[in-house]
Amino acid sequence: MKEKEYQFSYEVYDSIHELNPGDASLLKEAQKITEQAYAPYSQFRVGAVAKLANGKHLSGTNQENASFPAGLCAERVLLSACSSLYPGIPIETIAISYQNNQNQSDHPVSPCGICRQSLQEYEQRLKHPIRLILGGMEGEVYIIPKASLLLPLAFSSEEL
Ligand code: THU
Repeated sequence: MKEKEYQFSYEVYDSIHELNPGDASLLKEAQKITEQAYAPYSQFRVGAVAKLANGKHLSGTNQENASFPAGLCAERVLLSACSSLYPGIPIETIAISYQNNQNQSDHPVSPCGICRQSLQEYEQRLKHPIRLILGGMEGEVYIIPKASLLLPLAFSSEEL
């Protein structure tokens, strides 16, 4: 038997004010776009904004449905938009924020498992890491250098 260890590093900032201007403005865009989420059932509005290698910014928000499993997370709405509008152009960074009627939006939230799987495949397909900036409307901000770090031992197309 041998034991293997998985570790990754990410940056933790006290607030958006510590970020470089480009990252701060991407996170502000993500905060703002949460207003366009369609989340009448959870009241949890997520906004994601991508900065592409060609400099374009695209956004996505969560889109819920009365048939709950039909709902889509902001991250996968965003990846679909990027892939449809700018196929083959790598995503450099995605900022993700949220608003929540029940609790304060004062800490970063991480992408769900299904979105991690989709982010991982986008990186693999375009052979380019996707940086993640995670932050609420206030509070700490995390910068994760590569989305697939959040999904160790991922299932990938190489297995098929
Ligand atoms: N949601 C996202 O948009 N992204 C995530 O990574 C986590 C969850 C959405 C799905 C649903 O509309 C609401 O947040 C509550 O789960």
